[in-house]
Amino acid sequence: MSGVALVTGGAGFLGSHVAERLVREGRRVIVLDDLSGGYRRNLPSNCEFVRGSVADRVLIERVFAENRIAHVYHLAAYAAEGLSHFVRRFNYENNLLASINLINAAVNHGVKCFVFTSSAAVYGSGADGAASPTPTPVDPYGVAKLAVEQDLRAAEEMFGLRHVVFRPHNVYGERQNLSDPFRNVIGIFLKQTLLGEPCTIFGDGKQTRNFTHVDDVAPAIARCVEAPEAWGKAFDIGSDQATSLNEIAEMVQNAVGCRVGVTRLPERREAAHVKTNHEEARRVFALGPGVELAEGLRRVAAWAADLELGPPRLDLTIEIERELPPSWRNALTKRAPHDS
Ligand SMILES: NC(=O)c1ccc[n+]([C@@H]2O[C@H](COP(=O)([O-])OP(=O)(O)OC[C@H]3O[C@@H](n4cnc5c(N)ncnc54)[C@H](O)[C@@H]3O)[C@@H](O)[C@H]2O)c1
Repeated sequence: MSGVALVTGGAGFLGSHVAERLVREGRRVIVLDDLSGGYRRNLPSNCEFVRGSVADRVLIERVFAENRIAHVYHLAAYAAEGLSHFVRRFNYENNLLASINLINAAVNHGVKCFVFTSSAAVYGSGADGAASPTPTPVDPYGVAKLAVEQDLRAAEEMFGLRHVVFRPHNVYGERQNLSDPFRNVIGIFLKQTLLGEPCTIFGDGKQTRNFTHVDDVAPAIARCVEAPEAWGKAFDIGSDQATSLNEIAEMVQNAVGCRVGVTRLPERREAAHVKTNHEEARRVFALGPGVELAEGLRRVAAWAADLELGPPRLDLTIEIERELPPSWRNALTKRAPHDS
């Protein structure tokens, strides 16, 4: 692979793993991140860092004008699926309109391939493991992701912008954000366990997700620009093993070596099970069996043991109060200002 790679969200969890792999392959990597959810400590050494938002059109134009960007890896987003109902405008501005700034610049500056991390959220409750389930998102986060996917398809047809889409399934691992109470259930349980607090579960905890270690996702994302078979396609990617929230709470506590139990909260609107089909990603990227869940949790718990665990680090304004779970309202009153 050659040419400059722009990784948006590269100070975040998944983006930093993608950026690290590209740097290791000898690429010149520019990370663009506003540090709203990421950290400077996540940045791989030997990458260039631009602090700023994808929503800033002038900045995006400057980055593309000053650098011959060959590949865009667009991972920047605020990925709180459940909360997106209550921050609808912010969700669409940050996750949809900001993405269009990048797509426009990619077309205007002749980018060779645009890689986008969408989400299994595009399926809503329609993900049933069928060969080609129909995307029917049920929250604004999923709607925004699907709209960007569709815009990329239109941009490819109209302007020949080559693209690859990934819909990763509940990724966890080292460098994931533990300071956000609204997303990444493993991160939430990990923080609670390390602080000696019970793990909070909405409903009966029988809802399942396929938790996937970041090492089983980041390499395919980094490599896809040189895999012609991947171009123009959307890949569901992740583990095939469904694990309930009750089980994962238990496993996180085992990994940390501390029993904190669970606290049950009233159930909220969410898909009971999300099962996507990963065969195509496995075939095209020759993926192996993946990191075993207990082993992955052991690794992430070892990484988290040395972290300073502060209050939530968020700068969000709730746009709709109706139906907002009370535990989320409380979390918002305890938030800390941004740092880096
Ligand atoms: N982690 C998962 O399980 C998962 C699953 C499906 C899809 N995804 C997608 O993968 C991508 C990365 O997710 P993650 O889990 O690493 O989250 P993350 O919060 O760790 O990383 C996102 C990064 O984007 C940055 N960012 C957010 N808005 C920005 C903006 N407007 N301009 C510049 N930077 C901005 C944040 O500061 C952060 O560093 C996201 O697009 C997310 O929707 C993640």
